[in-house]
Amino acid sequence: MKAAIDDDTRAIFCETIANPGGYITDLDAIAEIAEGAGIPLIVDNTTATPYLCRPIEHGATLVVHSLTKYMTGNGTVTGGAIVDSGKFDWSASDKFPSLSQPEPAYHGLKFHETFGPAAFMFHGIAVGLRDLGMTLNPQAAHYTLMGIETLSMRMDKHVANAKKIAAWLEGHDAVSGVTYAGLDSSPYKDRIPKICPKGAGALFTVQLKGGYEACTKFVGGLNLFSHVANLGDARSLVIHPASTTHRQLTEEQQIAAGAAPNTVRLSIGIEDADDLIADLDQALKA
Ligand SMILES: Cc1ncc(COP(=O)(O)O)c(C=O)c1O
Repeated sequence: MKAAIDDDTRAIFCETIANPGGYITDLDAIAEIAEGAGIPLIVDNTTATPYLCRPIEHGATLVVHSLTKYMTGNGTVTGGAIVDSGKFDWSASDKFPSLSQPEPAYHGLKFHETFGPAAFMFHGIAVGLRDLGMTLNPQAAHYTLMGIETLSMRMDKHVANAKKIAAWLEGHDAVSGVTYAGLDSSPYKDRIPKICPKGAGALFTVQLKGGYEACTKFVGGLNLFSHVANLGDARSLVIHPASTTHRQLTEEQQIAAGAAPNTVRLSIGIEDADDLIADLDQALKA
């Protein structure tokens, strides 16, 4: 990452637990690189949620969430959130003129000079919301607030189920690999105590020996898992990225994205783990 940064680089963007593979990012190491380069670190914490990871404590400048996922927990709304650490000096370089320089549409107001640590937030509301209009509707806000009340209980159950199911899948004859970071076989396992001390989340991929055809059959054969593109619902979800969300990519790009033709993504829900295992077993056999 350090080698890729040049004068045009405005920010580093990463995910805490990366979708689709469930890999865990060493946020502290990347924050150090961002700080050295004088650029903000933006962390998408959607798949971890603030219950499993608190990115600002690892050096993140801004944290973004899709509320559509675990935060609401039932796929009923589309929403997002930005959390600003308020720590970044937007005026230290000429890279962020919209915050450090006069804003013509606000009588020459300089956001950073005027609002200090709240500059990014004020700009997001005064310019971003005004120009683009993506205001959360009240009903969606209500559903999201109700969802957040049960976030801790749901995340504990998501993690416990994911651990059990990933370990079971890893031992199945039809399976050639499982990417869950909570498994002993994961190269990312050592990052869990530092980055996500309460667990590695519940999103991961499974590779099937039968390849593309077996994957589409497997998805079609599942009964308890819903076949949808969302993740983080209370109910378990499944998708085969190579034939759906990632179908426009070349095979090489699919592999680089962790969405190879032999790969199925699972978002493990909070149902009874043994029921989910029974469903996975019958679909793998079929
Ligand atoms: C990790 C992650 N962040 C953000 C988003 C965007 O979410 P939304 O559809 O709520 O805009 C997604 C959507 O799939 C996601 O998986």
